Amino acid sequence: MIPSQLPVLGRGHVDTCVPAGREAALWGYFQTLGDSEVLGFDVSLAGRDVPLHSAALGQPSPDIAALSHCTVLPAADRCRFHLNLAVPFESLPEHSVLTVRPRTSSGAALGLRYLHRLTTPRPDDAAIRSVGGGYEAVAQEYLAYMIELAGLPAKARVLEVGCGIGRMALGLSAFLGEASSYVGLDVMPDALAVARATLAARAAGARFSFQHLDVYNGWYNPSGVLRAREVQLASYAADKVDFILMTSLLTHLFPEDMAHYLAQCRAVLAPDGAMLVTSWIMDERTKAATRAGRSAIAFHELDGYWVESESNPEGALAHEEATLLTAIDAAGLRIVHRIPGFWSGSVGLSFQDLLVLAPSA
Ligand SMILES: C[S@@+](CC[C@H](N)C(=O)[O-])C[C@H]1O[C@@H](n2cnc3c(N)ncnc32)[C@H](O)[C@@H]1O
Repeated sequence: MIPSQLPVLGRGHVDTCVPAGREAALWGYFQTLGDSEVLGFDVSLAGRDVPLHSAALGQPSPDIAALSHCTVLPAADRCRFHLNLAVPFESLPEHSVLTVRPRTSSGAALGLRYLHRLTTPRPDDAAIRSVGGGYEAVAQEYLAYMIELAGLPAKARVLEVGCGIGRMALGLSAFLGEASSYVGLDVMPDALAVARATLAARAAGARFSFQHLDVYNGWYNPSGVLRAREVQLASYAADKVDFILMTSLLTHLFPEDMAHYLAQCRAVLAPDGAMLVTSWIMDERTKAATRAGRSAIAFHELDGYWVESESNPEGALAHEEATLLTAIDAAGLRIVHRIPGFWSGSVGLSFQDLLVLAPSA
């Protein structure tokens, strides 16, 4: 069930969890998007509280302040934390998900997710670069959004369109329970081979399947046979699915293809299902920022959409707000949450804009 109210939003990351004497210690950072103060942290594993022995908050974080993510948040220079967990390191299972939830002066914040002692092999750097860079950190970031913003439960039938090398599937492989399923679809055979090789090493990997769409994409699959607007997702989802993920896919699809994919998603989504989608949305604010050179990507307007490069439009494509909203509505979907990204140079949660969608009727 998609939460009607969002937690206090903030950016953060758990860097590591290591043995510390007879206990475990974890380090990370968290800063709220506004000026709410972090008062403490609660840690849990599979819904059970993990007791804390001690917590150091508000530690200096010049590295985070330097990162800036296009905008410097109020607490950027003192947002590191160090938590000592009052449990033996060995008691925290392999390939599990730790939740680290900040308590703030405005209430509970978005819980960070940490993938603990992963048992799957790491793809090589070239494979990780092929989907834009970043692996575990991106998996952790988006696992938190799936759960906290879009209400993904541990038992779900999940479809991911544009799954790449399976970095979102990595987070899901540690989170989804036994009665769940995951199907990932992509146009890049090499990326799918990486995803299969990575997740196959996991005992429960049988629940995960990765399938090829031989669809043309000028940047990712120039030899593809089908056109994106011909894809029928029902051929890949035997039953209805509870959750659909499309991260950084609409950013590579022309408007007609984007609209077709949204309609196809609606056709396979259960009536009480949810979707998490990212995009670069061109509205009055982001257009002004782009024209003023404040956007992280130098988009310019083409034929009803915006691209970074005219010779490679599918390399990075931003949609007009009106076009995207019309496509969502025409697909029979509605926006439950819309959370701006920081790509446009203003305060945002993730780099891209986030949309949580549900069937409209
Ligand atoms: C930036 S990557 C993101 C991959 C993945 N969503 C992630 O965040 O790790 C974009 C992905 O979309 C895939 N893609 C491009 N066009 C597609 C299409 N028409 N149908 C499905 N996937 C597509 C690419 O092959 C690539 O793996």
